[in-house]
Amino acid sequence: MIGKLNHIAIAVPDLESSIKTYKSMLGASVSEIIEQKEHGVTVALINLPNTKIELITPLGQDSPIQGFLRKNPNGGLHHICYEVENINESKKFLLKAGGRLVGDGEPKLGAHGKPVLFLHPKDFNGTLIELEEK
Ligand code: CO
Repeated sequence: MIGKLNHIAIAVPDLESSIKTYKSMLGASVSEIIEQKEHGVTVALINLPNTKIELITPLGQDSPIQGFLRKNPNGGLHHICYEVENINESKKFLLKAGGRLVGDGEPKLGAHGKPVLFLHPKDFNGTLIELEEK
């Protein structure tokens, strides 16, 4: 069912500082800083030849990653996003196999304007998984 790795998201407490580290220590090519108000995060993309890494930091009071950073004050791996052909078919496939979804389980428009679902980390060794329709 899952296809390409679309991105890996890393929650960071200080975006400027993380960007600096990726540039200076890894020679990374990093995008401009993008505010995604409707998703409650500020993002910088590290573009790699085969995928991208999203450095995400909270934007606003009710950011969905606030709780994560409270538990992990130095930041950490937040989620992994796999591409799927059809989000509703993927949801059916997962639920039939006993998988669980996060939230109300309805696909929402994600940060890239495409429908996404989040799968429960308890089913995947503690890793939050995002599925994004291609
Ligand atoms: Co994501």
